[in-house]
Amino acid sequence: MATDEPSVLRAELRWALAMGGVVAGILVAILYAALALHRNPPSNIETIDPKTLHLSSEFTERNLGTKVESNGQITARVVTTQFAFVPQCLVVPEGTLVTLRLASPDVIHGILVSGTNVNTMVVPGYVSQVHTVFTKTGDLLMPCHEYCGLGHSQMLARVRVLPQSEFKPGSDGRIACAAQ
Ligand code: CUA
Repeated sequence: MATDEPSVLRAELRWALAMGGVVAGILVAILYAALALHRNPPSNIETIDPKTLHLSSEFTERNLGTKVESNGQITARVVTTQFAFVPQCLVVPEGTLVTLRLASPDVIHGILVSGTNVNTMVVPGYVSQVHTVFTKTGDLLMPCHEYCGLGHSQMLARVRVLPQSEFKPGSDGRIACAAQ
């Protein structure tokens, strides 16, 4: 086997090219995910007092869940807390932009919605906001994916994606999962 200097150099160049190819492939995958699939890290920066978020304004119990605003914008608000989501089930329409807004009064939680690009941490002191379009109808799981204490594995909610024709909010713009 030839081990003179030129052949060593050629082998090193081959490996450098191969590694350059791997790096380029990863960069292309990242750009494709960001630009074509809209998989981006959430970038909303908005503060909220975790000690009082349930007492007034946006994250009071009455205001949680899905609401169609007067301008047609659809917002679903959720409080993530040890060890539950409030509400436990969200109703959203298929094929429409939905904004999820989440806040935590206690510790760091994380949420994802299976099969979608929704994936964010919920850090006390901040409002997490994610925009998404649900493309398939049916029930999706929304588990907590950040270890938040002994009940972490029980912390699970559902997102019910309804066809446009069945998404009928009440006169106050609100819609919730039917009692089960
Ligand atoms: Cu909340 Cu894990």
